[in-house]
Amino acid sequence: MKINGVEYKTIWFNEEKQVVKIIDQIKLPHKFIIKELSSVKDAVNAIKTMEVRGAPLIGGTAAYGIALAIKENKDPEFIKKSAEELIQSRPTAINLKWAVDRMIKKLSVINSDQILDVALKEAKEICDEDEKFCENIGLNGLKIIEEIYDKKKSTVNILTHCNAGWLATINWGTATSPIYHAHKKGIPVHVWVDETRPRNQGANLTSYELNEEEIPNTIIADNTGGILMQRGEVDMCIVGTDRTLSNGDVCNKIGTYLKALAAHDNNIPFYVALPSSTIDWDIKDAKDIPIEERNSEELSHIEGIDENNQIKKVLIYPNKSKAMNLAFDVTPAKYVTGLITERGVTEASFDGLKKLFK
Ligand code: MRU
Repeated sequence: MKINGVEYKTIWFNEEKQVVKIIDQIKLPHKFIIKELSSVKDAVNAIKTMEVRGAPLIGGTAAYGIALAIKENKDPEFIKKSAEELIQSRPTAINLKWAVDRMIKKLSVINSDQILDVALKEAKEICDEDEKFCENIGLNGLKIIEEIYDKKKSTVNILTHCNAGWLATINWGTATSPIYHAHKKGIPVHVWVDETRPRNQGANLTSYELNEEEIPNTIIADNTGGILMQRGEVDMCIVGTDRTLSNGDVCNKIGTYLKALAAHDNNIPFYVALPSSTIDWDIKDAKDIPIEERNSEELSHIEGIDENNQIKKVLIYPNKSKAMNLAFDVTPAKYVTGLITERGVTEASFDGLKKLFK
């Protein structure tokens, strides 16, 4: 998708310099900076600090992280340790483990003289596949938006939470892909963008990327969705997910659950968009999902740009107050109208998922 009219993807390998390039998402929307990752340590750090974030993109970064590890040292023990560090760098999104496991499986039968080439090829394939999946999610979700538009005959208002846009994936996004496809088709859409405290991925990233594609959007405080739904100003919700269980329970950015409850109370369809790499076929009970707890400084401090165009961080809480920063919550399947996947839209249930992914 576009930034300043130029097409970008969120991650790519630079052959000449033998480095992985990323868009530094910590600095957006105020500064557009492309960073280079040249070691597995750089990849782990980029994931931990959220220079790259969003389930599919951290999966793609971890895949390239394995290639960077191999570039440094082909010793199987080093590669194994690097794989562990990448998987542990953020615990909730299943895409990380999925991508690392796929890389390790592929590389386990390759000779050491070919291993770097194969690793780079497989990492690119993981990223290309995600891009294709996200495009298909868009085409499948587009049909839902079209149906609403055919009935309503005026702008379709869509609420989304966090950033499940192209910046969270390789391209297109998950939740935003149907919106981009609808816009390209000429269907009038408007997006209510949840600010998404504490890190403000909605305001900083979703609104930014929608602006760049000229899609009308309005940032709202996280608690505003309920009243908008009661007033009939939300036609549907679409969110992403970091891990969806095979029973259809959806783990996503903190606050998603409350939006689903409000949508349920107001009879508003609540869709979750995801590629199959986000499905966890192993964990059966949502209580067993590892929920990331991040530094409370993400709550107590806030960053912005000052009059000298410098990014500044300031304390906004009483300095003696404690704060707690759980990064994700789980929305039970019963509140999810449907899962929009690369293979079609299905009900949030084991049978629904199994029909699409045997
Ligand atoms: O903490 P983040 O910014 O990595 O969280 C991102 C989300 O919660 C997204 O909704 C999710 O990863 C889906 S991305 C297509």
